Amino acid sequence: MKLLEVDLGDRSYPIFIGESLLADHLCLKKYCMGQVLIVTNTTLVSMYADQLKLELQNLGSSKVDMVVLPDGEQYKNLDTLNLIFDELLSKKYNRSATLIALGGGVVGDMTGFAAACYQRGVKFLQIPTTLLAQVDSSVGGKTGVNHALGKNMIGAFYQPQCVIIDVSVLNTLPQRELSAGIAEVIKYGLIYDATFFAWLEENMNFLLARDVDALAEAIEKSCQIKAEVVACDEKEAGLRAILNLGHTFGHAIEAHQGYGNWLHGEAVGLGMVMACDMSVRLGWLDPDILARARSLISRAGLPLDAPTDMSVDDYLGFMAVDKKVLDKKLRLILLKGLGQAVVSSDFEADVLRDTLTSYCV
Ligand code: NAD
Ligand code: GLY
Repeated sequence: MKLLEVDLGDRSYPIFIGESLLADHLCLKKYCMGQVLIVTNTTLVSMYADQLKLELQNLGSSKVDMVVLPDGEQYKNLDTLNLIFDELLSKKYNRSATLIALGGGVVGDMTGFAAACYQRGVKFLQIPTTLLAQVDSSVGGKTGVNHALGKNMIGAFYQPQCVIIDVSVLNTLPQRELSAGIAEVIKYGLIYDATFFAWLEENMNFLLARDVDALAEAIEKSCQIKAEVVACDEKEAGLRAILNLGHTFGHAIEAHQGYGNWLHGEAVGLGMVMACDMSVRLGWLDPDILARARSLISRAGLPLDAPTDMSVDDYLGFMAVDKKVLDKKLRLILLKGLGQAVVSSDFEADVLRDTLTSYCV
């Protein structure tokens, strides 16, 4: 088992990465002896959640219940969040409750937000079951839900007690979801680590074939980078924004296409290509890096063709409500080299327009 730490002073927490962590109970025992509410979804309930509930009962947790949310990004909203509060209140959970997020990023983000709000804050654990959640959303404490007018617009920074990453659960993940997770892995190479990007170029086929060692290495490296960035800038006052490479473009695609139609990772994959493309147009990035990014993202099984029904104004409309907009100026994550991301509003609006135009039919 690998152990990393997110270093946040008295809110520091461990990330455990291993091959059968859910089966060996070591981590669960430490964190789940009191009142526990498992939050999961309709897909994962029979795959992993029923078993987890049984195991917690056998381990001696004082109270274990489960709330099963509808599955899908389109349900990541306040109505669904209320189902968690309904369960907590109707079953009389008190402030010593621990919530367990067993699922992908949707379950993780909602459970974390529910934990942040319930009785002004209870503990929660992340047990991420998608690659995307294992390398990104379960680490760093961003929690929340979508609003019809913008993605992840309602939420809180709220850190878990620990993150338990069991690589073996990825065996049941649909291939399209695996590819979506690989998008976020590629992101770390692009923004932070050229050597890791080259490693991904070498190992992409192993990742797609779910080679356990390759997956574990990619997860560990990704979590290491994420933990380092979050430790420097927990609440995104500066550096942390680089983790959003491609996201401003991607969120526009997700919101315009209707949440759930483009997977988050798919939209981020294309968004990263757009961000690299714009960086080339600004003269900041060697076109060869854009070509390498396009090639790796395509090899990961991610779409490079933009939606055919989106206009430049559609993109700009959604991008204008991005959380990185400051004093009415849009800030974007762009690259000044492989592994060198910058957060910048230092570009002419025309360059953004030209970039977007080239992705609109
Ligand atoms: P998801 O949670 O919708 O999961 C994808 C699908 O895979 C779902 O149908 C789910 O039921 C299924 N699934 C999950 N684990 C499985 C398994 N082991 N086997 C079979 N099926 C499985 O999507 P996601 O890609 O994990 O997360 C996307 C969400 O994460 C978005 O809402 C995004 O905004 C959020 N996100 C948050 C952060 C953050 O820092 N908090 C970072 C990135 C993304
Ligand atoms: N996924 C971006 C962040 O956690 O900041």
